[in-house]
Amino acid sequence: MKENFIPERAVIRELIVENEQIHTIRLELLDKTRPFTFLPGQFLMLSAPHCGEAAISISSSPTALPLIDLSIRKAGELTTAIHKMQPGAQVGIRGPFGKAFPVENFSGRSLLFVAGGIGLAPLKGVIDFCLFQQELEEEAAQDMTLLYGSRTPSDIAFQEAIKKWQEQGIDCRLSVDIADEKWQGTVGLVTDLLDGCTVTEQTTALVCGPPIMIRFVIARLSAMGCTDEAIITTLERHMKCGMGICGHCHLDGKLVCIDGPVFSLAQLKTMDVMELG
Ligand SMILES: Cc1cc2nc3c(=O)[nH]c(=O)nc-3n(C[C@H](O)[C@H](O)[C@H](O)COP(=O)(O)OP(=O)(O)OC[C@H]3O[C@@H](n4cnc5c(N)ncnc54)[C@H](O)[C@@H]3O)c2cc1C
Ligand code: FES
Repeated sequence: MKENFIPERAVIRELIVENEQIHTIRLELLDKTRPFTFLPGQFLMLSAPHCGEAAISISSSPTALPLIDLSIRKAGELTTAIHKMQPGAQVGIRGPFGKAFPVENFSGRSLLFVAGGIGLAPLKGVIDFCLFQQELEEEAAQDMTLLYGSRTPSDIAFQEAIKKWQEQGIDCRLSVDIADEKWQGTVGLVTDLLDGCTVTEQTTALVCGPPIMIRFVIARLSAMGCTDEAIITTLERHMKCGMGICGHCHLDGKLVCIDGPVFSLAQLKTMDVMELG
């Protein structure tokens, strides 16, 4: 328990500038003897000296360990400080915390990923993990489709990853709210991309993004016939301890840091959450 309170030092090995708002830092623990593993969908508490701590989803797959990616959108004091850091700088991490996506149930399923903005970060780890399983031909998902919405073309993050996923056979469809003169793809909300999709009994949908997006996507998926158990999303609530002690992330009888952040729609329906409207 004690070790979960004390941040471990990690060094930034690589910096990937996704866009003006989102930086991915590729970390390695300084203490290489410390056993560290996680599952896709779990998060870390990230800290920097004198700048506080924040929950950040791990955006890489456990198969990439010992390297750990965190994709960080500039929001406040800590994330602004992290955006100024270069390779070689050190940060603190605690965790991993929280429930993961149920990757053990994805064998033979058609996975439909629906993300908005930084919401692709936790799903990126799942996609890379499932691709790794497909390569090994081990309890793998049958196929994967990604629907990804951004505000403008310059806000599209994870472009390198998306290009690689397309080459590896993932059907990636992108939309922007506001186009520029070069954009030839879909203009509109990410829900518009669902128009071209089919949902079957084999579909599991993983939805991640701002609460308003989650609400509309979930409603649409339900109308298309996706069951409550087959719609899985993540909730974002302010956290302090990350490990079920402080009560800061309390939500209608649940603690998001330990009961979530991953929840199925079936679970959400037992709770009073703004994501359901
Ligand atoms: C499970 C989980 C996973 C996350 N994953 C990621 C991720 O992968 N990438 C990412 O960029 N972000 C992620 N976040 C969000 C991130 O934790 C927050 O944006 C965090 O607040 C940033 O810290 P900061 O110190 O930079 O900003 P803060 O100083 O915390 O400010 C950020 C914003 O939150 C507001 N705010 C601050 N405190 C409160 C409060 N108590 N109640 C309500 N609003 C408040 C501020 O006004 C400001 O608008 C995740 C959050 C959770 C819970
Ligand atoms: S963040 Fe402390 S209980 Fe969840």
